[in-house]
Amino acid sequence: MKKELSERIKVIDKSLDLYLPEIENPQSVIYTSMRYSVFAGGKRLRPILMWEAAKIFGKDWDCVKEFACALEMIHTYSLIHDDLPAMDDDDLRRGKPTNHIVFGEDIAILAGDALLNKAFEIVTEAEYADYKRAVKAINFLSTSSGSEGMIGGQVVDLASEGKKITADELRYIHLLKTGALIRAACMIPAIYYGATEEETKAIDDFAVNLGIAFQIRDDILDVIGDKELLGKPIGSDVSCDKNTYVSLLGLEESERLVKQHSQSAVNALKVFGDKAEFLVRLTEYLINRNS
Ligand code: IPE
Ligand code: IPE
Ligand code: MG
Ligand code: MG
Ligand code: MG
Repeated sequence: MKKELSERIKVIDKSLDLYLPEIENPQSVIYTSMRYSVFAGGKRLRPILMWEAAKIFGKDWDCVKEFACALEMIHTYSLIHDDLPAMDDDDLRRGKPTNHIVFGEDIAILAGDALLNKAFEIVTEAEYADYKRAVKAINFLSTSSGSEGMIGGQVVDLASEGKKITADELRYIHLLKTGALIRAACMIPAIYYGATEEETKAIDDFAVNLGIAFQIRDDILDVIGDKELLGKPIGSDVSCDKNTYVSLLGLEESERLVKQHSQSAVNALKVFGDKAEFLVRLTEYLINRNS
């Protein structure tokens, strides 16, 4: 799986590089800052998921590269802002000092903003065979990133620091702050390629369960992970007094839930048969991920 992932990452990074050139102008520091975080070395999970979801509908990287790179830029922006002193106040990301440590808070905020805008620039500059569906897909990308999606989850995550919340409330946070972009990765190909109702429901079910499993594993790794492998600090959640699956339910129950949600995700893919073979293996691989 590692080799398969790194092959995909190479292709994705080549596209990202084309969409995010260094430009010589008075504001050139912004490109340096944007590229610093994008190319610091992420797992590229969301573009990989989008690529694989596209394959289910008979399409390849070239068909989804704009949406996939846009999504990775939005994800990277969310990480730059998530690490700011006003949010989780972390100094290491993707194995490197966080954007605000290198460029200052002002440029880090603007680099995040610029990545968000660049994302929509890329998807609105692309050529489409079906513009009506493209607009629907762009709308989904926007909603998933915004106040009903990732940002909404981040808001409730911050508002819940130091407070006692229920498991349902925590699930809501995870569904939004992390689940929404993972869902966008899987749903955008379904929306654009006109998936049937059954297919849409299946891929959605897969994505929602994978998103929850992925964030619970993230909560676990914040406790038992290795800083070198993870490329980000351990214990960030405790120092921010966050509600996490580990703080609420303990390590053992969290590990059980990662497995349970991953199994539900895999079950949802059954309708796609062999076409989802890689997604099944990827989901199983992510259960025990250390980075
Ligand atoms: C980190 O996401 C933030 C979460 C939503 C858990 P990833 O674990 O996908 O981070 P990168 O992209 O590999 O750095
Ligand atoms: C953040 O969750 C999810 C985002 C929207 C960035 P975390 O705060 O747990 O992510 P990490 O652990 O810093 O990557
Ligand atoms: Mg956070
Ligand atoms: Mg964080
Ligand atoms: Mg975390």
